[in-house]
Amino acid sequence: MAASLGQAVRHHWNLRDDITFLNHGSYGATPKPVMAEQRRWQDLMEENPVNFMRRVLPQALEKARAGLAGFLRTDPADLAFVDNATGGANAVLRSLDFQPGDEILVTSHGYNAVKQTVHFIEEKTGAVMTTAEVPFPLAGPESIVAAVTAKLTGRTRLVILDHITSPTAAIQPLAALIAACKSEKILVLVDGAHAPGMLDLDLPAIGADFYTGNCHKWLCAPKGCAFLWVAADRQAGIHPTTISHPFRKGFSEEFAWTGTRDASAWLSAGAALAFFDTIGRLPAIRAYCRDLATQAAEMLADAWSTGIGTPAPLRGSMATIRLPDRFRDIPVQDVLDGLWENHRIEVPVHHFGGDPWVRISAAPYNHIQEYEVLRNAVARWPN
Ligand SMILES: Cc1ncc(COP(=O)(O)O)c(C=O)c1O
Repeated sequence: MAASLGQAVRHHWNLRDDITFLNHGSYGATPKPVMAEQRRWQDLMEENPVNFMRRVLPQALEKARAGLAGFLRTDPADLAFVDNATGGANAVLRSLDFQPGDEILVTSHGYNAVKQTVHFIEEKTGAVMTTAEVPFPLAGPESIVAAVTAKLTGRTRLVILDHITSPTAAIQPLAALIAACKSEKILVLVDGAHAPGMLDLDLPAIGADFYTGNCHKWLCAPKGCAFLWVAADRQAGIHPTTISHPFRKGFSEEFAWTGTRDASAWLSAGAALAFFDTIGRLPAIRAYCRDLATQAAEMLADAWSTGIGTPAPLRGSMATIRLPDRFRDIPVQDVLDGLWENHRIEVPVHHFGGDPWVRISAAPYNHIQEYEVLRNAVARWPN
């Protein structure tokens, strides 16, 4: 399998040959056949927009939702398309009825946009955001569970858990975390922005109340293809952020129409799933990406005499590696600019816990030589 991925499949993507693209994680990258399917839907829509919106779209959307639901092992009735994970989290946070003093617990590895949404809720309702300080580098899942459970109080209404954290690329031990929340009857929203495609998902089995995930990252769907799953007994009162004609018609109907929009990204979710079948089996592709991320992370940490942020069991298709100490005082933007302008490397760099880190992604089109370009650029910095 390994020999048939990497360079051998890169031609399926539009990615330029003269860049070293190690940041699939931020926005994904969509293969050409999936983009062709998206354009097919757009062309069909513009042949007769009225016919499309009224007679074609409702059924096409049902079919797309059912296909994605099968992949996520859930009842389609519990699943809705949204534009992105930020939107999924917003729909939940803005729908819940928070009271002054209610606590919404996030972790120090949580995603900034979602935390900003919690700040918005604080302003609107008087609820307060509390933060579990999860240590980093991570020794193992126990430290995450200990940090989160230590912050659960009698006032905690909702806990937001990232399935895979953005700044630190750590898979969270959801089973233990959710069990702890559920034993206190606390609601759980999982931000699974990176999980679909990277991890094998069975949404109901996760045991959360709400789960939002992106298809445009590791499933390589067109941008704007994401979902919100809500447990059947929590759907009453959960509304899309944009209220439209179907208000009060129930979860599925309300999310299916939020005003005129281009639904082609959602309608192409099935094409993204089918695309993987053309380059291999998904479990083997996942294994390729995970192994490549680990091989690259070990090579980089070794070459720079630094370390990896997560132990192997908490690692998927991304990894964080500490940059050499001399990067500590260089502004992040200068590092990003230098890597891009001098080497055409696209990779996120940020400070976390006072240290400078780089987060590498390993997508099906990546191969080990690309991380050697990064290794050498950092080793020879600033040249
Ligand atoms: C944990 C997490 N949540 C949410 C998002 C936001 O994704 P989107 O911009 O598609 O809403 C990201 C993006 O990287 C993320 O890592």
